[in-house]
Amino acid sequence: MIIVIKKIVCDTYDELCLTAADVFTEQLKKKPDSVLGLATGETALGLYDELISRYNAGKVDFSKAQSFNLDEYYPIDPEHRQSYVYYMKENFFDKVNLAKYQLPDGMATDPDAEGIRFDEEIDKAGGIDLIVLGIGHNGHIGFNEPAPSYYFGTHLEDLAESSITANSRFFEADEVQPTKALTMGMGTIFKAKKIIQLVSGAGKAEIVKRVSDGMIHTDIPTSLLHLHPDMTMIVDKKANGE
Ligand code: F6R
Repeated sequence: MIIVIKKIVCDTYDELCLTAADVFTEQLKKKPDSVLGLATGETALGLYDELISRYNAGKVDFSKAQSFNLDEYYPIDPEHRQSYVYYMKENFFDKVNLAKYQLPDGMATDPDAEGIRFDEEIDKAGGIDLIVLGIGHNGHIGFNEPAPSYYFGTHLEDLAESSITANSRFFEADEVQPTKALTMGMGTIFKAKKIIQLVSGAGKAEIVKRVSDGMIHTDIPTSLLHLHPDMTMIVDKKANGE
């Protein structure tokens, strides 16, 4: 059996966050004006906390770097506390000195045009040097949900029922939860020079097992990452089924 994806197994979630923060720190040392790709979600929170601590300790500097986020709900007001731009400001952007950040515009009147514009912005910036991904229980990356075929570029995606259910924990009972999102496409993600994917907790053990067989499963978007030349999965022991 050939395992193509490089996998780093950490004892704990804290160790996973330190390992991911090391990758970011190294990247910014090597190239201070790096273009970073960022994820939201629960798993990325510890990475952002660690990067903020390192920034406060003078160990990492974002002043020349810029970022592009993977996705944003659609439609959503940027002031909505469940918008991804709100999450990013709360948990990262307002706490470090990142030169510039961009997310797909959850209020765009023409989402198709917004997808094209977003990808053009990434290209204009010189492409993404390092992107951090999470993984959905169904194997989604960004919000590219399991399907017979995948969009190349940033586009509007109907969220899978399982993704809507998984994220419902963040919404109050009286809040309308979006069922669509603007997400980087598989091509947008694949054009990143380096990819790390963070996976934590026993709840993700099944999907990690399914993609650890070295096969490309067309119905599991994340398994396509086997094809990327510089992709590392960073998992904790629970996610690794240990
Ligand atoms: C978020 C994103 C999603 C999440 C994934 C895992 O920007 O693109 O693919 O990374 O749904 O979310 P958590 O970490 O909350 O389990």
